Amino acid sequence: MAGATAGPSETPMIVRRMRFGYPDSLKAWWNPSRREFSHMVNAASLAMPYLEPYLIETMRLAKAKIADPKLAAEIDLYIGQESTHFRQHQLFNRRLAAMGYAAVPAMEAALAADYAGFAAGKSFAFNLAYAEGFESMALAMGHFLIADRVDGDDAVGSLVLWHFVEEIEHKCVTYDVFDALDGRYWMRVWGFLRATTHIMARTRKGYRALLIEDGLWRSWRSRIALAAMLGRIALRLGPRMLRVLRPGYNPRQVKDPAWAIAWRRRHAEEADMSGTLDMRRIADPVPRMQGTP
Ligand SMILES: [Fe+2]
Ligand SMILES: [Fe+2]
Repeated sequence: MAGATAGPSETPMIVRRMRFGYPDSLKAWWNPSRREFSHMVNAASLAMPYLEPYLIETMRLAKAKIADPKLAAEIDLYIGQESTHFRQHQLFNRRLAAMGYAAVPAMEAALAADYAGFAAGKSFAFNLAYAEGFESMALAMGHFLIADRVDGDDAVGSLVLWHFVEEIEHKCVTYDVFDALDGRYWMRVWGFLRATTHIMARTRKGYRALLIEDGLWRSWRSRIALAAMLGRIALRLGPRMLRVLRPGYNPRQVKDPAWAIAWRRRHAEEADMSGTLDMRRIADPVPRMQGTP
């Protein structure tokens, strides 16, 4: 634990050091019954080592302009959490790369160019609005992933769920920073729309390329499964995303899911927790860690 503070959300943020051990037998379809979903998560994971350093750099620049020491301390914790996220995703992404997918280096090159372009070519106001826009989407996505409970391989599911427990935990930071330094409603909405459409387009390109390499893109069964999954995501995520567009939106209004609160409590009780969940018991109302009753 690198540090904790009671944030404006009244939820203490903690930078956790996690250890997810992927089995030698790990497959890109780490959930064999949901291959399309596996590749959607894989594609999103490929973005993290480019997207999250961009968010971190934006928040570093923001910190220099923030006078409130409490908010500045929260930026440090936010940066600590995002740093561990992209490092853990990088470990997983290297495993995907080692499986020989040509889409992996191609996606990584495109994402590196995108975020280098945003950082160098866009205004600070845009980058700050993008950061808050992405975090608003990540909060909605976190609620969806926890309600649906990612399953499949223990380590991959645990990586994703830990990441989104912390996305929910730091839900207020970029909002508060945006509010302190900009606060324009239309700019917040623009950042949200831009971040959402950008990351969704990149993710779609990524899972499409991965499914093509697996010979699934032309399979009608796979396309039906993909359409059903996208429909479900749209249905579950839509109302949460629309809420972000309200002028009075504030992430504090979004109540944390009980499962995420239980995960955090579990971590606080067990200092050496690896974070690896037992996926056979993933539907339980509280997180069940591997090797525990
Ligand atoms: Fe993150
Ligand atoms: Fe985040």
